[in-house]
Amino acid sequence: MTATAIPLADHALSERLAARLELVEERLRDAVAHADALADDASRHLVNAGGKRLRPLLTLLTAELGDGERREVIDAAVVVELTHLATLYHDDVMDSAPVRRGAPAAHEVWGNSVAILTGDLLFARASATVAGLGPEAVRIQAGTFERLCLGQLHETVGPRDDEDHVEHYLRVLSDKTGSLIATSARLGAMFAGCPSSVVTLVTEFGEQIGIAFQLADDVLDLTSDGTLSGKTPGTDLRERVPTMPALLLRQRAASPGATAADREALAALDADLSDDDALAHAVALLRVHPVVEETRALAVERARAALAVLEPLPDGAVKDAFVSFADALVDRAS
Ligand code: IPE
Ligand code: IPE
Ligand code: MG
Ligand code: MG
Repeated sequence: MTATAIPLADHALSERLAARLELVEERLRDAVAHADALADDASRHLVNAGGKRLRPLLTLLTAELGDGERREVIDAAVVVELTHLATLYHDDVMDSAPVRRGAPAAHEVWGNSVAILTGDLLFARASATVAGLGPEAVRIQAGTFERLCLGQLHETVGPRDDEDHVEHYLRVLSDKTGSLIATSARLGAMFAGCPSSVVTLVTEFGEQIGIAFQLADDVLDLTSDGTLSGKTPGTDLRERVPTMPALLLRQRAASPGATAADREALAALDADLSDDDALAHAVALLRVHPVVEETRALAVERARAALAVLEPLPDGAVKDAFVSFADALVDRAS
């Protein structure tokens, strides 16, 4: 395994973060253990399947702006990954996703009820861990969880008639993904003893980079080959989960300047995608459509905005690492 999911230029920093991530791994393995055999198997399933551990990495990285050695920093990193893990179990049920982290999704193995309850068990374990960090952390974690649920809820119900679809969707991304990435950054800085001005900066960075990350995820649903991403391409299209490329395509196709290619791609998107060939056709048309580049450009723009927030931080290895982190999040294959 590489030291961290993201290569960092500074060797010493990279080694330090990798060593702390090892501690996070150990703690995660302990945190998902259950005496009950089914709860144990189902809870370990996605931890063992892998994942990039970007959220704990961000917690450890922001902690480098203060005293990254503190025990609470590791606890905070464990909390954000457990929270993330729990949402993945629930998300795969909602999105009927067959594969996650290269393994069958939990609901494919044990059914929806066990998958949902396993997600709840993980939330319980995240709560138990965050309790040790005190009431402020508990409040932050609760607020994050609330935003996450609201983001998923608003994605599910879609925009009101009077709402702009793209703006609505960007708010969804902020809530369902930006919230936890912001909290990952925030808790790291907080528990490393950083001043509140720094905590505020990194929180905003996390929110913005989270939106960029999710936009990149929308692109991946169309462009990934599945072996690298560990997810099945076209999952969002098939389940009619809104994504930025699909929204942009609808906007274009409804505009006076719509081209034959726009209309053809939209027709493919609106076909019965339970059929494998129809899904492959829709993915193939969307993949080469300019809306994918447009979504990528939106992700890059957000990542730049996120980095601009960090401008006041002193130059050095940690700031450079934030740049590597941001670049890797928008330009990724998995
Ligand atoms: C997947 O997150 C869910 C999103 C918010 C896009 P990741 O891409 O970080 O998933 P893992 O943890 O690496 O599996
Ligand atoms: C996942 O969003 C966001 C949360 C888990 C809250 P997606 O449904 O877009 O993510 P993937 O593509 O399944 O990882
Ligand atoms: Mg999903
Ligand atoms: Mg989803």
